[in-house]
Amino acid sequence: MRILVTGGAGYIGSHTVALLRASGHEVSVVDNFSTGHREAVPADCSFQCDLAERVAIQQLLRTRSIEAVVHFAASCYVGESVTDPAKYYNNNLVGTLSLLDALRAAGVPRIVFSSTCATYGIPSRVPITEEESQQPVNPYGFTKLAIERALKDYCRAYGFGAVALRYFNAAGAAADGSLGEDHDPETHLVPLLLQTALSQRPHVQIFGTDYPTPDGTCIRDYIHVEDLADAHLRAVQHVRAGEFQEFNLGTGRGYSVREVVELARRISGRPIAVVEASRRAGDPPSLVAAAEKARRELGWQPRHTTLDTIIETAWRWHRDHPHGYKSKVGC
Ligand code: UFG
Repeated sequence: MRILVTGGAGYIGSHTVALLRASGHEVSVVDNFSTGHREAVPADCSFQCDLAERVAIQQLLRTRSIEAVVHFAASCYVGESVTDPAKYYNNNLVGTLSLLDALRAAGVPRIVFSSTCATYGIPSRVPITEEESQQPVNPYGFTKLAIERALKDYCRAYGFGAVALRYFNAAGAAADGSLGEDHDPETHLVPLLLQTALSQRPHVQIFGTDYPTPDGTCIRDYIHVEDLADAHLRAVQHVRAGEFQEFNLGTGRGYSVREVVELARRISGRPIAVVEASRRAGDPPSLVAAAEKARRELGWQPRHTTLDTIIETAWRWHRDHPHGYKSKVGC
């Protein structure tokens, strides 16, 4: 299939581009490289372009005879979305509506959308099924939910086919060491712990120790980035005209922040200092996926079922690339 990947130079996008190409698909990438890395995507198929450049995207869709779009491009920091919501409504919602206009104009009605468990807000039940009501507690989650709603309406009215993949906490790095997580600024727990193990940070703060969980810290479901890539590969073949489908992507097992800290210490073999701090705004106590629907309908099964192997791949990446993509390999 000829596939356009938006935001293909980002963390999950780049792993998905690599898998789609390895599976024989012809991939084109658009990225504005505001947060993505040129080193993470093959130069011969990448175009610097913003989602808002509707005419340029429309041309690309036509000249490359694109059949489906996998849409990652977005701003994705929960905390920043609270302090700068305009950035999130513009980049995520307005940007996506512009992309959808280009898809309609070029007659490309298939889309796989990068959604999130943040659309659920604070769930009434854990593990969370796709039937859980979606009541986001931060602007990031709202923008992703608004896009899901637009896609649902576009499927009904314009014959689009859309799959929304609701990720839980992406972590880990490519097994072959070629790709990994490199955010600036970094806010995610696993890379922060590993950077601390490398003495790049003095300590990691534990945000909240008074949650209603067994050890008082937040519980999350960590899913390997290559398992997420595999779900996109399956989803792009699963999109059906006129249908909106949604799938949770997680392992179904939750780990508390303290458990993640212990695992990072054990796997790195290095001390990692932590400081207990107050809760971070917008953090639900526990988010764990019920992902049976993806297993049943996409045939998707995460290969990494425990956090140990996820952190092992992340540790190899951080150890070999202490400065992310700017590192000389092996330094
Ligand atoms: N945490 C800390 N200290 C830190 C960073 C994180 O204690 O320095 C805690 C957080 O409070 C949270 C857990 O570690 O309980 C995981 O936090 P991350 O920042 O790694 O991930 P989030 O759960 O906040 O965010 C992820 C994705 C978002 C997605 C969200 C859904 O990165 O894109 O899950 O809740 F929207």
